[in-house]
Amino acid sequence: MATNRGTWASRLGFILAAAGSAIGLGNIWRFPYATGKSGGGLFFVVYLLCVLLVGLPIMMAEVLLGRMTQSSPVVAFRTLTRRRSPWILLGWMGVLTGFLILSYYSVVAGWTIHYLVLAVRDVFAASSVESIRGLFDALMSDPVANVGYHALFMGLTVAVVIGGVQAGIERWSRVLMPTLFLMLAALVVYCVFLRGFGDATRFVFAPHTDDFKPSSVLSALGQSFYSLSLGMGAMLTYGSYLSRDTGIPRSSAWVAVLDTLIATMASLVVFPVTFSFGMEAEAGPGLIFRSIPIAFSQMTGGYGLGIVFFVLIAFAALTSTISLQEVVTSSFIDLYGWPRRTVCLVSGAAIFLFGIPSALSGGSVFGGSMKALTGKSFFDWVDHLTVNWMLPLGGLAIAIFTGFVLDEAVRKQEFRQGTTWGAVYGVWLPLLRYVGPAAVLLVFAQSSGLLRLLGINW
Ligand code: PHE
Repeated sequence: MATNRGTWASRLGFILAAAGSAIGLGNIWRFPYATGKSGGGLFFVVYLLCVLLVGLPIMMAEVLLGRMTQSSPVVAFRTLTRRRSPWILLGWMGVLTGFLILSYYSVVAGWTIHYLVLAVRDVFAASSVESIRGLFDALMSDPVANVGYHALFMGLTVAVVIGGVQAGIERWSRVLMPTLFLMLAALVVYCVFLRGFGDATRFVFAPHTDDFKPSSVLSALGQSFYSLSLGMGAMLTYGSYLSRDTGIPRSSAWVAVLDTLIATMASLVVFPVTFSFGMEAEAGPGLIFRSIPIAFSQMTGGYGLGIVFFVLIAFAALTSTISLQEVVTSSFIDLYGWPRRTVCLVSGAAIFLFGIPSALSGGSVFGGSMKALTGKSFFDWVDHLTVNWMLPLGGLAIAIFTGFVLDEAVRKQEFRQGTTWGAVYGVWLPLLRYVGPAAVLLVFAQSSGLLRLLGINW
C-alpha cells in the first residue's frame, strides 16, 4: 500500500510545506483581528500558551501517526486499529473537513487575487475612501467575479497538487514560503517607521485586561487549532511523507514557531498601517479588504506596498489550499490506488462546485435567502461548522487516540525514533492525554451553550 507514495526530499522540505499549510489567511487576516478584539497582549500570551501546551502536542501526534503508517488519514487509522473500528471514521471526517474548508477558503483566497488585480491597476490611489470601501461590497454582490476567482484559485491549487509531493507541493513551498517571509519582513521594516507603529505595538502587546473575557481563552484555543492546521489530518498527511529518520518533535516545533512568528509579524503590519491612517481596528473581513487598501491609497509607496501585500496573502493562502487538497487527494490514492491526476481533477472539480454557494453568499442568491432564514449565509455555516466543531473534535479524537489507544511501547518507540529530543516524550504525553482534551472539552461546553446552562457566563 505504502509504496511509491512520494517523500519529501529533505527535512526542510517538510518544514516549509507544513509551515505553508499552517501559515495562511488564519495568520494574516484572522489572527490580527482576533487579537484586537480580545484584549491585545493578554490574548497574545494566552494564544502562545495554547500553541505550546495544546496545539504543538497535537501536531506532534498527527505527524507521528502519519510517519508511522506512511499513509493518509483513513488508511492510517485502518492500519492502526481492528477491522471496522470506529476510529476509521476519524480519518473520513478529516477528508470531509478538508473538502469543506477548501470549498470556502478558496473563495476568500480568490478575493485576494481580485484585490491584487485592483492594486496592480492602481484603483486604490485613484479612489476616495468611500469608493474603496464600496469595492468590497461591489465584489460581494458580483457573482461572476466571486465564482471566477474561486475557480481560478482551485485551478492553481489542483495544478500544484497534480505535480505530486516533491515536484508539486515541496517545489512550490520552497519558492513561495521564503518569498512570503521576505515580503512580510520588508513590510514590517517599513511599518516601524510609520506614525502608528507605537500605538499598534501597544495595542497588540499591552494587556488590555478589560477586553479580555474568559471566552477569549476559547477563541485563542480555536485560533491556534485553525492556524496550525490541526484536527483534520493535514499534518498527518504531510507527516506520512517523512522518512523515519526525521525527528518529530523538532520539525513540529519549527512549524509552530514559524506559524506564530508570521502571525505576529502580520499584526505588526496590519495595525500600524490601519492606525497610521486614522482607522479603527475593524473586525471581520473588512480589516484587510477595506481598511488596508484605504491606508495604501494614502501612503507614500502605497502602489508597490499594496501589490506586495496582496501577493503575500495569495501565496500564504495557496500553500494552505494545497495542503487541504492533498488530504483529499492522497486519501483516495491510498485507498483505491487511483492515479493522482484523476483524483486531483475530479475532487478539485467537486470542491469547486460545492464552493459555489459560498462564493454567492455575499450576494442575494444563496446568501440572502439563507441569511433571512437562519441568520447565517451558506459561507458562514460551512465556516462555523468546520472551525468551531469539526477541527476541535478531530483534534480531541487524535489526542485521545494517540494518547490512550495507541500501544505505549509503540508510541514511545515511534516518538523517540530519529530524534535527539526523545526526552520531550515525558512532557508531551501528559499534555496530549490531559491538557489538550480538557481544553477542547471546555471549548465545546462553551460553544454548545452548556456553560451558560450551568450558570457560568463566559
Ligand atoms: N492553517 C490555515 C490558515 O491559517 C488554515 C488551514 C486549516 C489549512 C486546516 C489547512 C487545514 O489559514
